Amino acid sequence: MQEQYNIPNDRIFYSRNLFFGRQIMQVTQGRGVDVVLNSLLGEALAESLRILAPLGRFVEIEKRDIHTFQNLPMQPFVRNVSYHAVNTKSVEHYNPAHMCELVLELVDMLDAGTFRPPRPTGRHIGKAVVDWETEVEIPVVPSPEPAFIFDANASYVIAGGLGGIGRSLAAWFSRRGANVATPRCDVSDANSLRAVIDYATKTLPPVKGYIQTSMVLKDRVFQNMTLDEWQTVLDLKINGTWNLHRILPKKMDFFVILSSTGGMDAFARHRWSLGERCVSVDVGVIKDVGYVAEHSDIAKHWDETKIQVLAEKDLLAVID
Ligand SMILES: NC(=O)c1ccc[n+]([C@@H]2O[C@H](COP(=O)([O-])OP(=O)(O)OC[C@H]3O[C@@H](n4cnc5c(N)ncnc54)[C@H](OP(=O)(O)O)[C@@H]3O)[C@@H](O)[C@H]2O)c1
Repeated sequence: MQEQYNIPNDRIFYSRNLFFGRQIMQVTQGRGVDVVLNSLLGEALAESLRILAPLGRFVEIEKRDIHTFQNLPMQPFVRNVSYHAVNTKSVEHYNPAHMCELVLELVDMLDAGTFRPPRPTGRHIGKAVVDWETEVEIPVVPSPEPAFIFDANASYVIAGGLGGIGRSLAAWFSRRGANVATPRCDVSDANSLRAVIDYATKTLPPVKGYIQTSMVLKDRVFQNMTLDEWQTVLDLKINGTWNLHRILPKKMDFFVILSSTGGMDAFARHRWSLGERCVSVDVGVIKDVGYVAEHSDIAKHWDETKIQVLAEKDLLAVID
């Protein structure tokens, strides 16, 4: 490759640690590179994004961080860089006619010698160039498909959808193709809930699933709690859930309640006894999104207890 493309030794960097970022910034006098064709993960991905020059393009061909819902640092986007996830499988899936055009164009370019595969030299450093025979068996690990695909002709309700975990779930819904709307509603008030669901029923496809993430927390030792505080917390969990049970349509695909140690299992069993689906998930403590993550004193307390807490990705995996 070096000979074929005339690449000098000092323009080749080692990517199994993060020094390459600093080295590339040095040789480009702090400007960075115009294009990154990336197959690195995690911190190495972030470092490759960091060294992108203003208006540069990041072309992502590694899919693992995408499928495991990792995050990108936003700071490089100050330089107006763009990030393109390239997955020919999804082009084939969503636009087969375009895929066909791309393949034909590529065949023409290969025929014309515009692209040449690197010549194997018999000795290699790092990556190997692989040749194959027609009949050879190639072991393949399939990339994970989402366990649940949302129905494009359905609506889904998240109560408390603007809370920490609610926002994370809304983003997760949207990654699976859903559009997100945020009507204001107090679910513990049946009239307020009925008005929103009536409006949704008239303007959106039928509701086929629900996730309960609404919560009011009055974190007190029981002896110090006023009746009012006790009632406020329970009203939302009990009346809110009961209102949703009564007002949302029957025979939905899912009705998921995120609860805590208090649990809502008896209610879930009640729905099953009526032939309606329901799962109550006793979530535990989530460290990186939600109420705990947004209250540093509580997060610190949980950190000190050394009790195992969950991450956002663990919760999303359970919901999936
Ligand atoms: N975070 C954790 O570690 C953890 C642990 C165990 C269980 N959970 C469960 O996970 C769920 C989400 O927790 P979270 O951490 O995301 O909580 P959060 O950030 O406090 O969010 C709660 C959301 O509920 C909304 N809400 C409050 N009263 C409402 C009402 N009457 N009608 C509609 N929405 C209402 C709040 O809206 P406003 O802001 O407008 O009031 C807020 O958006 C809860 O069910 C909780 O019990 C969380």
